[in-house]
Amino acid sequence: MRRLQKVPSPPLAGEGEGDGYFSDRLVAWHRRHGRHDLPWQNTRDPYRVWLSEIMLQQTQVATVIPYYRRFLERFPTLAALAAAPVEEVMALWSGLGYYARARNLHACARAVMETHGGRFPAAPEAIAELPGIGRSTANAIATFCFDARAPILDGNVKRVFARCFGIEGFPGTPAVERELWTLAESLMPPRQDGEGGPCGNYIQAQMDLGATVCTRAKPRCEACPLAEICVARSTGRQAELPVARPRKALPEREAIVLLLVDQGRVLLEQRPPSGIWGGLLSLPELPAGADPAQYALDAFGCLAEDWEELPGLVHTFTHFRLHLTPLRTRVRLLPQAREQGARWLDPGQLDDAPLPTPIRRILVGFGR
Ligand code: ADE
Repeated sequence: MRRLQKVPSPPLAGEGEGDGYFSDRLVAWHRRHGRHDLPWQNTRDPYRVWLSEIMLQQTQVATVIPYYRRFLERFPTLAALAAAPVEEVMALWSGLGYYARARNLHACARAVMETHGGRFPAAPEAIAELPGIGRSTANAIATFCFDARAPILDGNVKRVFARCFGIEGFPGTPAVERELWTLAESLMPPRQDGEGGPCGNYIQAQMDLGATVCTRAKPRCEACPLAEICVARSTGRQAELPVARPRKALPEREAIVLLLVDQGRVLLEQRPPSGIWGGLLSLPELPAGADPAQYALDAFGCLAEDWEELPGLVHTFTHFRLHLTPLRTRVRLLPQAREQGARWLDPGQLDDAPLPTPIRRILVGFGR
């Protein structure tokens, strides 16, 4: 393991980090400055905690809150979620992004019903076996709900560690990640059973510090309980740590989507279950090199003549950038028009349809 850089006084005494300074400072800070009334706090119900942790991956608290509330209204229990068709789960997730999370959420609910009799397992290792739950999320659930003493290591925590201890290297590489897990283990406060015990408070404090003080841009070091020992602060390297992912230019892809309009309704097609926007409804995508009129006829039995190109938009995914060009036309339907997997929706049905955000943006104003 790479050696941690020496920290200024008060140092992480003698043995290094396991002396409680780090967790004590964080927990004391959290008591006064942390978030205490988010909708998924003050509960030890693993269903609610799990749902919030999945929604909060890659998504900000303010965005998650309305989705979280709607989800619980529709699916108040894990059993209700497991019993629902996956399409309904996707529809409620629509707009939150990273849709594999929603498919895994549903698969996880079913797995808990089938393999664990409807009760979430308590051990972090057993939780981590479930679909869509990684080590950090499993540890958070076990610590919040079952008094485990298991560290977390999400993006926020990696940033705090990298800055505070001057960890070099991109945190996504396996070697750096191993180093960070070792550090995370060593910094956990001792276990103490009981609700709101120190481990749960400590991991919530880590999440809150990363989200509100040790932010990616413009960290508020003056408000940080770790400022005195922070390597990035004492060396002025807040902007350089954590080390950024080595930059590869994102590949660019282009897609033409068709707005086929018949009597004020638009044709939407269900996407295949895997791949981008898996399982969501979307505008039909023109296969590369195909002629739009021929494709509309062959695929959907639609006769189309005059096409209008609408303003395009660019959507960035993790691995590529997609340039979308919408082509609109009014169609005549042949009697044998086929509708397998495709649906004609009128404008009033679009709000509740499970549409990816860029497609919803293209459809804004449709029918008005
Ligand atoms: N991000 C991930 N988990 C969180 C939580 N429990 N509270 C606030 N932000 C979070």
